[in-house]
Amino acid sequence: MNDTSRRVYDSVLGLLSNVDNPTPLVQLSRLVPFEHTKVYAKLEWYNPFGAVKDRVAWNMVQDAEESGRIGASQQLVEPTSGNTGLALAMVANAKGYSLTTPLSNQIPLEKRTVLRLAGVDVVELEDSLCPAPGAPEGAIAKANEIANQPEFEMLNQYANGSNPEAHYRTTGPEVWHQTGGLVTHFVSSLGTCGTINGSGRFLKEQNPNVATIGVYPTPGHDVPGVRSLSQLSQTEFFTPDKYDGLVEVENDLAFEMCRRINQEESLTAGPSSGMALAGALQAIPDEPGNVVVVIFCDSIFKYASSILNNLSDLGKAPASGSKREQLLDSMVENARINSDLTINIEDAHDLWQTQKPFVIDVREPDAHRQRHIPGAINMPLDELPDLAAFLPENRDTPMLSVCERGNLSLSGVLFLNSLGYRNARSVTGGTEAWDEKGFAIEST
Ligand SMILES: Cc1ncc(COP(=O)(O)O)c(C=O)c1O
Repeated sequence: MNDTSRRVYDSVLGLLSNVDNPTPLVQLSRLVPFEHTKVYAKLEWYNPFGAVKDRVAWNMVQDAEESGRIGASQQLVEPTSGNTGLALAMVANAKGYSLTTPLSNQIPLEKRTVLRLAGVDVVELEDSLCPAPGAPEGAIAKANEIANQPEFEMLNQYANGSNPEAHYRTTGPEVWHQTGGLVTHFVSSLGTCGTINGSGRFLKEQNPNVATIGVYPTPGHDVPGVRSLSQLSQTEFFTPDKYDGLVEVENDLAFEMCRRINQEESLTAGPSSGMALAGALQAIPDEPGNVVVVIFCDSIFKYASSILNNLSDLGKAPASGSKREQLLDSMVENARINSDLTINIEDAHDLWQTQKPFVIDVREPDAHRQRHIPGAINMPLDELPDLAAFLPENRDTPMLSVCERGNLSLSGVLFLNSLGYRNARSVTGGTEAWDEKGFAIEST
């Protein structure tokens, strides 16, 4: 028998949180600028596998077992940004199942490595940070392909009702109980939207005046686990009409707030917690009686490379590979911050309309075919040297180098520079940001 008061458990699964064994709620005292409004962080890394997703993985497996959907020695497959994967891996290990996770190679190395350590068959793919449902070669398509084999089962956190239900059964009741029914605002970052939907439903059933606020990042963001507005609109559980507020937070602010939470509140929170808190502080007024609960999804420890990429004063990620690769990496990194080599999405659009630049799209052909800036010529980065003959003769031609999100295109612009092109720019935010701005887009 589990004894939560003495914290003695039959197995690690007994550590999974519920109203009798909740994750902690800690009041934020230093960085909250309010006089009246109380703000609490719910520390989800106190779940046994380190994240809010432990609740979801456990509930999806339990429901699937109860309904007979999965059985002994089951092979599971799940497209995941990491946290669901790790939680599923651990639940699978505890139950004798196996797990395959197709995932984006943009996911921090720490997460991909830990999944492998946990025995997962990790299939790395070119995809956005959060799997894009429509991407033909993305994690979701790959998982669907594997799940078509009869021996595999995909629990699919994006469409499985057991995901929000996990929060209806546990997170919502915990918050209600821990605040003594005084909670007025529930704030969650948005990924699959399971947390906000399930917890929100429970809390509103107790008190319809509890406000639910969803926080999402700007296009082209680097916050793992969450989705921008256009990415959200492709997911089944995103139901904005049911939320009381939606807040967009800039990538840099999310990382800066993450730093402040660690430094000022001594809480080892990760980037999506920074984003959620920044959104809460933007959206919620300072009024007597306000009791705010912000979900802090996971801790900072798996995000060293994200932190180094986004808080540049902390230094560069340790170099790996040959001297030549290191030199190239540092050239690309410098190109990122060199405003002569990059162009923001609005300016790129103006230039495209007024000066008809030569646009090269350095992604792989499939990604290009799916959507691209009209007129962009597909020159995959690896093939660029062989395609140089097709570039304009005039080295003063205005040129744009574009990819999915503005990373690969930096290498493209350096290559163009090396050939003497003086007016080449890499489009920051890439095709994704262009599309999200509603600018003209083409597919072939
Ligand atoms: C780090 C992190 N933050 C936020 C979220 C968003 O939670 P939800 O999927 O319930 O919307 C996730 C989900 O994967 C996550 O891993």
